[in-house]
Amino acid sequence: MINSMVAKHALWPKEDDAIFGLAAKAKEAIKKYGADKVIDSTLGALADDNGNLICMKTVYDELKSMPNAEIAAYAMVAGQPAFLEAVQKACFREFRPDAYIKAVATPGGSGSVKHAICNYSNPGDSILVCDWFWKPYVTISEEIGRNVVNYQLFNDKNEFNIESFKENFELLLNKQKRLVTIINSPAQNPTGYSLTDEEWKQVLDIMKENAKNEENKIILLVDVAYIDFAGKGNEKRKFFTQFSNLPENIFTIIGYSLSKGYTMYGMRLGAAIGISSNEDIADEFYYSCMHSGRANWSNCNRGAMEVMTRISNDINKSEAYEAEKAGYKAMLQRRADTFVKASQDAGLEILPYRDGFFISIPCNNAKAVSDKLMNENLFLIPLKKGLRFAVCAVSEEKCKKAPEMIKKAMARI
Ligand SMILES: Cc1ncc(COP(=O)(O)O)c(C=O)c1O
Repeated sequence: MINSMVAKHALWPKEDDAIFGLAAKAKEAIKKYGADKVIDSTLGALADDNGNLICMKTVYDELKSMPNAEIAAYAMVAGQPAFLEAVQKACFREFRPDAYIKAVATPGGSGSVKHAICNYSNPGDSILVCDWFWKPYVTISEEIGRNVVNYQLFNDKNEFNIESFKENFELLLNKQKRLVTIINSPAQNPTGYSLTDEEWKQVLDIMKENAKNEENKIILLVDVAYIDFAGKGNEKRKFFTQFSNLPENIFTIIGYSLSKGYTMYGMRLGAAIGISSNEDIADEFYYSCMHSGRANWSNCNRGAMEVMTRISNDINKSEAYEAEKAGYKAMLQRRADTFVKASQDAGLEILPYRDGFFISIPCNNAKAVSDKLMNENLFLIPLKKGLRFAVCAVSEEKCKKAPEMIKKAMARI
């Protein structure tokens, strides 16, 4: 009997996406018991206090006001030029690095992760990522014959573990002579950690030291998927200026996403933004990614590009959009503050939270705790090293209740 037809490289375990699977279970529980009886902290999407997906009015009013042809048309493979301008403006604000910068459109932030891994590492290479990580980094790497090596994100004092970063970075770089490192900051998924400007300096100092050997090629992917919900004003964008005038063998790619900042999750738009002190290297990035784009997804969502561009180029629209987003950012901060405070009150240890959609709880038997909590209608995501609670999706009232429930469930395992 034939039991497999796919080529060997495409044979993967028959498993559904764990997060979307748990989210579906939470939805079933809501249907059965009512929204007020269920805490659904599974998905990384902003929800209102009743658990309904938040869709920004300024974004969707703009989309619906556009002629059909602006939505339906193909986009250029690299992205519409006006969008590529707008996305750089939205990403850097007043902290644009002093460097040659080129952007290409991608289907969400995921596309920029694919570009960085696929176009800047060789088959068989290891990609360096911290031990609290977004799983698709591994999925994307493994799909194309790369693997992921972890450094520890935190030291014993729950500070950014620069020693572990340095040790693993140098080990892999010395071996491979080329290394793609992904840092998801600010507002990391799953911990909510953001590197300070001083921690960024330490990371870059290590990179600069290793760049003195011209044989080394260092590629830094900065995944800023959650940057629009981090810090006050644009303070969490200040670190971008540290990518100015870096040695030519350090290439930085910013992975920008419109999924969260514009609530365009399913519309699939983002950008990979390459930064170099060498113009040819920035151009090389652009053409390499354009080739990959054509080969992988052809082109991206034209309507979404148009919406962002129109908002960016009209002062009244951009002020209205910023005001709407600021309201949701404040809501998110209130929820996170409530969760952090309730964790202290309940004696629940959490990892250092700074910004963004998620808070993580370290624990050894996350799956068992998550299963137990599911029976109490609290849905969260079990990870290898702990549990992820999505404050973005849960009301303040429920953020206050959840830590004690989690603490009790952990004690009962
Ligand atoms: C860490 C991280 N990076 C990137 C993304 C990009 O997602 P998308 O491709 O939906 O823009 C996400 C979204 O969940 C994420 O959590």
